[in-house]
Amino acid sequence: MSQNAAETSSPAVQAAKLRGILESAVTAIITIDHRGLIETVNPATERLFGYGAAELIGQNVKVLMPQPYRAEHDGYIANYAGTGVKKIIGIGREVSGRRKDGTTFPLHLSVSEFDAEGRRYFTGMIHDISDRQHVEDALRESERQLAQSQKMEAVGQLTGGIAHDFNNLLLVVTGNLELLEPRLLDDESRALLKEAQDAAALGSKLTDQLLTFARRRHMDAHVIQLNDLVVSVTDMLRRTLGEHITLSTSLAPEVWATRADPGQFQSAIVNMAVNARDAMAQGGKLVVETRNMVFDEQHADFHSELPPGEYVQLSISDSGTGMPPDVRDRVFEPFFTTKEKGRGTGLGLAMVYGFVKQSGGHVTIYSEVGHGTTINLYLPRADGASVEDAAGAKKADTDTRARETILVVEDDERVRQLTIKRLKLIGYQVLEAHDGPSALEMLRRGDEVDLVFTDVIMPGGLSGREVAIRAREMKPGIKVLLTSGYAEELVHGDELQRERLKVLRKPYQQADLVAALRDVLAEPPAAS
Ligand SMILES: Nc1ncnc2c1ncn2[C@@H]1O[C@H](COP(=O)(O)OP(=O)(O)OP(=O)(O)O)[C@@H](O)[C@H]1O
Ligand SMILES: [Mg+2]
Repeated sequence: MSQNAAETSSPAVQAAKLRGILESAVTAIITIDHRGLIETVNPATERLFGYGAAELIGQNVKVLMPQPYRAEHDGYIANYAGTGVKKIIGIGREVSGRRKDGTTFPLHLSVSEFDAEGRRYFTGMIHDISDRQHVEDALRESERQLAQSQKMEAVGQLTGGIAHDFNNLLLVVTGNLELLEPRLLDDESRALLKEAQDAAALGSKLTDQLLTFARRRHMDAHVIQLNDLVVSVTDMLRRTLGEHITLSTSLAPEVWATRADPGQFQSAIVNMAVNARDAMAQGGKLVVETRNMVFDEQHADFHSELPPGEYVQLSISDSGTGMPPDVRDRVFEPFFTTKEKGRGTGLGLAMVYGFVKQSGGHVTIYSEVGHGTTINLYLPRADGASVEDAAGAKKADTDTRARETILVVEDDERVRQLTIKRLKLIGYQVLEAHDGPSALEMLRRGDEVDLVFTDVIMPGGLSGREVAIRAREMKPGIKVLLTSGYAEELVHGDELQRERLKVLRKPYQQADLVAALRDVLAEPPAAS
């Protein structure tokens, strides 16, 4: 509407136009007088606050405000009238509104003033911003989650790298100590050797936990029934946690099967239970729950880490000290602990985290300082697979002589030499290659090989898995055994299973090596 057109309209037409604007506006528009009494409201105001116009007109505008704005409002107007200092007029602010039913909501308020017939009036324009605030809150939360998972990813890479190299060094240490053993005849030397072996075993346990955190640990995944697993662990926990802690379980009937390493799953539960115990020095309650969970698309939006689907849920709740948010945000980091020196290493939850992630699941924490903590693990439902029982691994004896020829493929010179020594000790003929391409070249040349024993991660453009596949293509009937302590490839457990590839995890004992080789050599020739 141009200035001209407005001037040429009659006052009646102008009033009608204004009324039209007020009636149709989606913004709530309220006019008050200099005392704060409401003169006019538009329909949007009625809708927004839940009052009829008649209920509002003549009331002090304070009725639309929650505390503390309500109490301060008279002061604002008086202050402005006295000083002319504008706190809100022409500026706009985000404040809260109060509906007739007492609920409050965030709103954006802008105020203008005008004089008419010698009196001062104020007009307030009000936008409901609860939607915008929801979106902003959700955005902030997902940014926080993203930053968190990026941090964990980075820490995982670093930890996994160190643990991998360290694992290889340990393999050399323990392997050589083992070779030294039969040469040491006096008790004193043997005692020294034993000390070294024990320390190496501890080191190996540590790298194990680090590799679990970094999701690079070999997982012996089985289809498991969560309830059975929980029952077997809680029986043990009941005996060990102490009488001051009441342990109870709430197991949903017919919980789906899931697929994970049962041994690691049990240690995850134990780690969480021990944390709970530590958080309940004066005693308290520990509850273990299981249930089925279906995450739909919407839910998945909030838990961005999990795709929609069917999951089994395990929750461990305690009535302990709880943790403040700054602690909660860091508990999965390796070596993060709030416990005094010597009491905690800070690896318990790091292990839980790595285990769950590598199993394709997710873990969340709810904690309330002074009330307690709940940790939820979600693992994907295993589809239609039958339940196997987690039978213990069998050990083979080391002293039967072997005759087959084994091709060792390993990039680390020292690890390769050690492996060769160990294999010769068992009686195998040994050939060696320092990477995949040269191993395949030897096979192409026609070297006689019964079994390829290859590291998984190697430079040279071919992984152990690829070497295995090509070797089988080239020489149907050839046997393959992979070895690794660290491997993204191990995460692809399904692929390995499909290709019927076995992996011997580093560091291994001589007996493990013998057993693994014998198992693979005894396999019937591949059907494909
Ligand atoms: N249930 C819980 N209640 C309160 N705080 C907890 C709970 N679980 C973990 N925490 C906090 O998280 C930190 C890290 O836990 P985590 O299990 O990773 O390491 P830790 O228990 O300190 O040491 P470790 O498990 O290696 O012996 C703990 O030091 C503690 O501050
Ligand atoms: Mg712990």
